[in-house]
Amino acid sequence: MSRIGFIGTGHIAAPMARFLARTGHDIIVSERNAEVAAALAETCGATVAPNQAVLDRAEVVFLCLRPQIAKAVLSGLTFQSGQRIVSVMAGISLADLGRLCAPARDITLTIPLGFLEQGGCPLPACPDGDLLERLFAPENPVIAVPDEHAFTLHFAICAMVPGLLDLIATGADWLAAETGDPEMAEFYTSQLVSGFLATIGRAPGTLAQERDALATEGSISLRMTRALQSGGAHDALRAALDGIGADLTGG
Ligand SMILES: NC(=O)c1ccc[n+]([C@@H]2O[C@H](COP(=O)([O-])OP(=O)(O)OC[C@H]3O[C@@H](n4cnc5c(N)ncnc54)[C@H](OP(=O)(O)O)[C@@H]3O)[C@@H](O)[C@H]2O)c1
Repeated sequence: MSRIGFIGTGHIAAPMARFLARTGHDIIVSERNAEVAAALAETCGATVAPNQAVLDRAEVVFLCLRPQIAKAVLSGLTFQSGQRIVSVMAGISLADLGRLCAPARDITLTIPLGFLEQGGCPLPACPDGDLLERLFAPENPVIAVPDEHAFTLHFAICAMVPGLLDLIATGADWLAAETGDPEMAEFYTSQLVSGFLATIGRAPGTLAQERDALATEGSISLRMTRALQSGGAHDALRAALDGIGADLTGG
């Protein structure tokens, strides 16, 4: 069991804090956001403290600030040399964090999503996955990505999730307009996609195999995959990933 601190108690800190409290760790969270901090104190016994007190008491510290304020907030704080730091903040490099968190040197980058609380959230970890493996596995699979450039590109795939949700919502809206039952249309559409994805394996090539098993010659599934290809959906996705990836990596 470790004493685990959070600087920035917002949307992504809360599910991580709840998961770690449930798995037996002591949680200490910074005072902002006051409402989220109070809820964590009540639901999982978290201690609420000023930023510096979190750093003075925690063995492992999660940095969960919005990137635009992170440097200003962190540069006013004092870290400990043996402390282990995990940053979930997009766009703040290991080199920047090394300067901001000195003398702490053990720094890991990762990209959680809130469903990590229920398990099944893949956690890319840079430069290694040892600490995250200890804290979040086996419920959440940890993927070590030693190269920081490669790691940063995983944020672009994360941004693809709301893009795909938007597409799925368009499908549900289409069905609702045809059936007049928006609730059932959304339930059917989202459950179909999530249920399907939950059952497929993780061997390389699985996505293409599952697609080809459905999109056989003469099928409406093949008509759909071809229409999306020829309509430019895949080109639009690749262009968006290229643009976001270049912005994230300064490329
Ligand atoms: N949300 C996600 O699903 C997700 C996923 C992966 C990574 N991330 C990363 O996680 C980071 C946080 O995102 P978020 O969505 O959790 O944002 P958020 O909900 O706004 O959380 C940021 C927290 O920082 C607090 N804060 C502001 N100023 C502070 C200060 N001086 N000292 C301590 N805390 C302060 C905010 O409090 P107030 O509300 O009082 O301002 C808020 O509770 C971002 O860097 C983002 O890139 C988020």
